[in-house]
Amino acid sequence: MNGVQAGPPGSGQGSGKVILFGEHAVVHGRPAIAAALSRGCLARAQTTTGAGAQSLLRVEPWGVQVGSAEPEADPERELLRRAFAVVCELCSSERQVVSVQGEMEIPSGAGLGSSAALSVAVIRAIDAALQQSRSDADVLAASLAWERVFHGNPSGVDSAMAMATRGGLRRFVRSAAGPVLTPLHTNDVVHVVVGNSAEHGSTMAMVTRVAEHLQRDPARTEAILDAIGDVVDNAQRALETADFARLGRLMDENQGHLERLGLSTPKLERMCQSARDAGALGAKLTGGGGGGCMIALAADASRGQLIARALSDAGYAAFVVEVSG
Ligand code: PMV
Repeated sequence: MNGVQAGPPGSGQGSGKVILFGEHAVVHGRPAIAAALSRGCLARAQTTTGAGAQSLLRVEPWGVQVGSAEPEADPERELLRRAFAVVCELCSSERQVVSVQGEMEIPSGAGLGSSAALSVAVIRAIDAALQQSRSDADVLAASLAWERVFHGNPSGVDSAMAMATRGGLRRFVRSAAGPVLTPLHTNDVVHVVVGNSAEHGSTMAMVTRVAEHLQRDPARTEAILDAIGDVVDNAQRALETADFARLGRLMDENQGHLERLGLSTPKLERMCQSARDAGALGAKLTGGGGGGCMIALAADASRGQLIARALSDAGYAAFVVEVSG
């Protein structure tokens, strides 16, 4: 990194997430159920001198570096620069120059909340380097400001989960007064297989697609969003009673609604079918869609491994996460 490191180093962490039920509908006020992953992003920050007037952010393994004040020609990098500049402005009230390094542990554009995980890690690392404390509400507000640069109209579920305890299940609802995050209780561990289609999905483009459906055909689109909301409520009951067969059927139902909104892809459909053929109780895309990851529900740990193997034999990176309430 450029510049001379001046202050003591600070570090921060943000979790990735997996949405089990309710993505997209959550943008429009319906509930969602999500779990924080045990991986996400780690960031280190240090105040610097001699690097010019701008703060720097380097993200690995992307090999990307942006300066807060220097516009980037590449549109994706420019979004990252603008998001970073917004966070620097919010976090560094005295305009201290910071040099931040983020290490991503999850893929980007995959529906696992990489952008929110990076934002929370960066915010926490800057606060640690500047030896200042920030309330959770303020971390969330800064992360949402970052997310608005990338996604325009984020529900806040990614930011809330990036701050949540890893592995815990949460019900999330966006509301005018702020997000409402409720821990969910289940009597058993839930085994979820995550498979990556390796197709890059743009959350912004997919959120825009749903907004366009709402404009063109409000009655049909609202009905689908309501149906997803009902799936989420039923899934909460199935989780609380550890009724995994029902939970699996609800995943398939949720996927049908997402497909009707034009958010799935032929590859994601094939992956869901491969997982079901390998014994999954249900499967669906997760996150923004249009590519990215899918998830499958396994009855137990060994079935989870079999489903993950079936997906990796078909050429997709896959891993199993265990979540509990
Ligand atoms: O693709 P991701 O990981 O950013 O997840 C997006 C989730 C959406 O519900 C589609 C958008 C949102 O802001 O909640």
